[in-house]
Amino acid sequence: MCGIVGYIGKNQAAPILLEGLSKLEYRGYDSAGIAVYNNNELEVAKSKGKLAVLSEKIDGGKKLGGNMGIGHTRWATHGEPSDVNAHPHLSQSGRFAVVHNGIIENYISLKKKLESKGFEFISETDTEVIAHLFEYYYKGDIMDTMIKVINRVEGSYALGVLCVDYPDQFIAVRKASPMIVGLGDEENFIASDVTAILKHTRDIYYLEDNEIVVLKKDSVKVYNTDKEEVKKEKFTVDWDVSAAEKGGYEHFMMKEIEEQPKAIRDTISPRIKDGKIVLDDISLTEEDIKNINKIYIVACGSAYHVGVVGKYVIEKMCRIPVEVQVASEFRYCDPIVGKDDLVIVISQSGETADTKAALEEAKARGARVLSIVNVVGSAIAKASDDVIYTWAGPEIAVATTKAYSTQLTVIYLIAAYMADKLGKISKEEYADFIKEIESLPDKVAEILKSKEDVQYLASKFYNCHSIFFIGRNLDYAVSLEGSLKLKEISYIHSEAYAAGELKHGTISLIEDGTLVVALATGKNLFDKTVSNVKEVKARGAVVMGVTTEEHEHMDDVADYTVKIPATHEMLLPSLTVIPLQLFGYYVASLKGCDIDKPRNLAKSVTVE
Ligand code: F6R
Repeated sequence: MCGIVGYIGKNQAAPILLEGLSKLEYRGYDSAGIAVYNNNELEVAKSKGKLAVLSEKIDGGKKLGGNMGIGHTRWATHGEPSDVNAHPHLSQSGRFAVVHNGIIENYISLKKKLESKGFEFISETDTEVIAHLFEYYYKGDIMDTMIKVINRVEGSYALGVLCVDYPDQFIAVRKASPMIVGLGDEENFIASDVTAILKHTRDIYYLEDNEIVVLKKDSVKVYNTDKEEVKKEKFTVDWDVSAAEKGGYEHFMMKEIEEQPKAIRDTISPRIKDGKIVLDDISLTEEDIKNINKIYIVACGSAYHVGVVGKYVIEKMCRIPVEVQVASEFRYCDPIVGKDDLVIVISQSGETADTKAALEEAKARGARVLSIVNVVGSAIAKASDDVIYTWAGPEIAVATTKAYSTQLTVIYLIAAYMADKLGKISKEEYADFIKEIESLPDKVAEILKSKEDVQYLASKFYNCHSIFFIGRNLDYAVSLEGSLKLKEISYIHSEAYAAGELKHGTISLIEDGTLVVALATGKNLFDKTVSNVKEVKARGAVVMGVTTEEHEHMDDVADYTVKIPATHEMLLPSLTVIPLQLFGYYVASLKGCDIDKPRNLAKSVTVE
């Protein structure tokens, strides 16, 4: 996730900005830059790659004079990692320099408007729009300009802005993207998280949405969009640096679990406009969709589990046959795939060796490749015909959570988009589906509110030697992910089974006290799974049922029940998976496992 730091004070800004950015490196980034006010102009230095490259370029900051500046580490969203796409961005005349975290959803229309007024864009970023907008609206008052700009942009932002006409102050604002203000002694700061400034101060203001802050060397004033001053409460941070990196969480995994409502919202909201799914990112036409013979979904691990969900959802909604395969098998199975087939490749990192090789195999056979990727400009993204990015931000914990969840939402968008183009969904069903997709972030947040209930269950079962996850159809697909989450971080043996398949052998492993996590969320198959619950209970299993608020009957058969909100049948995996992620996390935590870095695993598997 991008990082911001800004400084004004008694010291030279550039070294402080570099040092602050180094504290944000843990968030993941692919380029970095700083801008300072020096000798009546704005000087900018930026580089693709590690912060060390930037630091070397400007001799640890010594080459850039001045006591005020803004800095940024970028995690590419719009436009690949490059020097020119790195922040800060300058407005056309160089009067303004801007750093930005977040996503400007209406940047395409704003860009068109600005281009028609003669503005020339040099980067592919959404942020450059903001820099030019400042110049476009500027009539000599930076506060008025800031208000006009934020009234015009849609989406999420944390902005730090320098203006050549204001040598002794800079201005910042945030909406739906974090930013704090650090209060020092003859120096003040902004930062996307406290880690960046902890060395200098522990006194901070938290900014609310659309509060505008004006920072001078010895004053900080916060205003609302009516230009009225807002009295802020000062907080004193008592975290140590490592807790601060994790936003106060003990592990990145829990931080990322909690980030899911935002990650899902960021992924879906730019793609739903006026009740319609808009996939601007892809060139697949209605004609192309109508001509698809078969869809393959190819991926590894959790991304493969998203594919299993995808098979059920796309087949059900689009009536196109879907085959889902793990990439390491696909690449060597002489796949029957050709020019009339669409291959959907899913990867968080965009670098997984087997997935990339499978993609190349598919392309060599003439198939069209659409990838769902989290890392912009990654190898898989570059090699694909079309890419839909998940906007999960960097995932640090080895066990994926928010990437999995955002990949699911892209699958739903693709399924509904294609079903609409194919005429397989009525207007009412389409509208209902979109309404339900839009409600997912709130429903995920609601489940997270009762995470202590899952923690309690984990405390009952963390000593188990073997745990089974069962379910049918979509519940089976989520069982695969629940089981993987548990085993990879807690080292407890676990298997996921299609509930109806259990009695063909595996049920012999059930004995007194074996925990079976039974997922029964869908309406049609609820009774069928309940029958399987009865079968395992009759053989001594202890059952933890996961179902929706609509199914009271689960309480009668299961020993423990976890309830999730109801939603559209096809979207249930997004909710069902949340308690399972929490269960894996809490079990691993109780066992004292190294949750963020489980043994034998790497975040990005770039070898075969
Ligand atoms: C499990 C997990 C892995 C990845 C798999 C694919 O929690 O994270 O199973 O899903 O290694 O990685 P990507 O998505 O980067 O291709």
